[in-house]
Amino acid sequence: MKVGLVGWRGMVGSVLMQRMVEENDFAHFEPYYFSTSNAGGDAPTYGNKTAPALLNATDISALKQMDVIVTCQGGDYTSEIFPKLRHDGWKGYWIDAASTLRLQDDAIIVLDPVNLNVIKDGLSKGIKNYVGGNCTVSLMLMAVGALYQNNLVEWMTAMTYQAASGAGAQNMRELIGGMGYLRDGVKDLLDNPASAILDIDRQVAELQRGDAFPKANFGVPLAGSLIPYIDKQLDNGQSKEEWKGQSESNKILGLQGQDIIPIDGLCVRIGAMRCHSQALTIKLKKDVPMDEIEAMIRESNDWVKVVPNTREASMTDLTPVAVTGTLSVPVGRMRKLNMGNQYLGAFTVGDQLLWGAAEPLRRMLRLLIE
Ligand code: HSE
Repeated sequence: MKVGLVGWRGMVGSVLMQRMVEENDFAHFEPYYFSTSNAGGDAPTYGNKTAPALLNATDISALKQMDVIVTCQGGDYTSEIFPKLRHDGWKGYWIDAASTLRLQDDAIIVLDPVNLNVIKDGLSKGIKNYVGGNCTVSLMLMAVGALYQNNLVEWMTAMTYQAASGAGAQNMRELIGGMGYLRDGVKDLLDNPASAILDIDRQVAELQRGDAFPKANFGVPLAGSLIPYIDKQLDNGQSKEEWKGQSESNKILGLQGQDIIPIDGLCVRIGAMRCHSQALTIKLKKDVPMDEIEAMIRESNDWVKVVPNTREASMTDLTPVAVTGTLSVPVGRMRKLNMGNQYLGAFTVGDQLLWGAAEPLRRMLRLLIE
């Protein structure tokens, strides 16, 4: 099987390549690497597999030779290339990290630990387009998908704490740059144990409000602050990131029309590197005992981890620092809220480059090639 890889050099693409090497995926297909800037150059040798020279990522006739194309190149690339390929009669499988095609009727959002049935149904119907979900949505469903699968959720709010990586590699650099800029700016005061904390605080605020603060990518300071808006502004008051919560979750679960479960919340950027966190409020359809809820979640997939609702376990196991770079999706702080026994609170953390982006794509490829 010929698999064309596009956008393999970027941040999500690099994580995808790394995971595909770790899982020995390259043993199962012939890789062809495409490039938007370096066609003719040497191809990489991931998984000890040599590949022909880099192909041109905008060359439709070269792309058409592929049985499968996996792209992390981004939405603009998908918008430009995908329609041309299909118009030219290409019948291969398109696996995409970008959101462009996600909600189209002829595309499935892939998250196989949660929706293998939906994926298999799509394959049997001849659907050829398989798209990774929004990172917060995928991570939320990896954590508490069991409650949806058991038809226990009447509605849910997700209040998010989203990492810089969701905005891009440059944004991660800018976050660290901002942290360093603040620290350097108050170094003398910090080094002096007798200095007044309110002097340090005032100086930090001045630095954050000053023109020299590094904010070219986020537009406003993130280090030592937060940004309560992610993605585009929609006309209904939601941000586009917030809008995706309900639309994508329901599509992943295969729910339509009257069955759609209301999901909404506020999406906030915070100064974490690559782990998105979410505080969930779930209105259950009935009063389910906590031990049953925990068992259901624990058994739902191999990566979710129920963290006991203790101070110590929450502080050590339920943070971006604990989770970053791993496939583990811990969910904790689970308890019934004061509103009543049908109201469940929970907090979950996940690496947005792994289960939030790369992992569902490589697993979809494995489904196709095995
Ligand atoms: N939109 C997400 C974010 C990233 O900005 O964090 C990818 O789904």
